Amino acid sequence: MESGTPQLRTDTPETTPVDVSKLGFHVVTTQDVGAIAAHYEEALQLARSGEEGDTVYLTTAGDHHSVAIRKGEPHGRAGLGFEIHGTLDETAERLTAAGIDFERRSDPEPGIGDAIVMSEFESGTPITLYKNQGSSGVGSVVGVRPAKLGHIASFVEDLAAGHEFYLGVMGFRWADTIGDFFSFLRCNADHHVVNMMTSKKRHGLHHVAYEMRDFMHLKEMLDHLGARDIRMAWGPGRHGVGHNIFTYHPDPDGNFIELFTEIDMIADEETGTFEPRPWHEEWPQGPKFWTPEPAAANKWGWINPDFMDH
Ligand SMILES: [Fe+2]
Repeated sequence: MESGTPQLRTDTPETTPVDVSKLGFHVVTTQDVGAIAAHYEEALQLARSGEEGDTVYLTTAGDHHSVAIRKGEPHGRAGLGFEIHGTLDETAERLTAAGIDFERRSDPEPGIGDAIVMSEFESGTPITLYKNQGSSGVGSVVGVRPAKLGHIASFVEDLAAGHEFYLGVMGFRWADTIGDFFSFLRCNADHHVVNMMTSKKRHGLHHVAYEMRDFMHLKEMLDHLGARDIRMAWGPGRHGVGHNIFTYHPDPDGNFIELFTEIDMIADEETGTFEPRPWHEEWPQGPKFWTPEPAAANKWGWINPDFMDH
């Protein structure tokens, strides 16, 4: 690593206060709930699963909601919901032992009966922890609707503190880091569920990402978006890190939404390496510090500098 690179924790302790298993939902606040909700419902074809007060809930299918959109100061990353391994009682005990503040809440969101609500390091973003959501009652469809919520990327001032929080407290595992400024962390077989880019000048959401079933599914979605004059800001391309095929476009508030497919998977936790793919650079391909070269960001073509600006 270059001199001056912060020492980043890359190990996950055997026991952590929280053991996250899945990203369940994200919260968007906006002055125009109708416009953002319409983007998710009509452009991205998520299903509206509820409305409560000034909040609209939409889902990719199974869970009650994948996104909650509510009235407020525009913020693309106003809250996060994670499923956990183990029980809420055990998690509460470990958080207390670690001296981490949290609240126990009943029915904090529709579809979630019992939860722990705590604050993310640095941002203070509320994090809701729960076992599982109730069903949305929405059937799966064969259409352009994304298969699932995939990951959420944010700007952080202190990347080392981000590693400490997500690896040391939340039980995530390290997946990759570009240079000394962009880290990718996972909580299940997917290459990343949380990613963080260091920045002193930018804050909040970098992008939120939904997974498409395959490249043809993504293509159908791009035609669907194109017909609505929603144009890509970057992609299609293939990232080096995570090796997912990606596109990015803005919602009406300018929050970037990634649509991706073919992300690296870790099937064997013992080796911790990614399932081999023809587009990998190494066999086996495993977690590493990447040189910040163009192919780390896009193996196919150009880099939109906005997405690397920090
Ligand atoms: Fe992404």
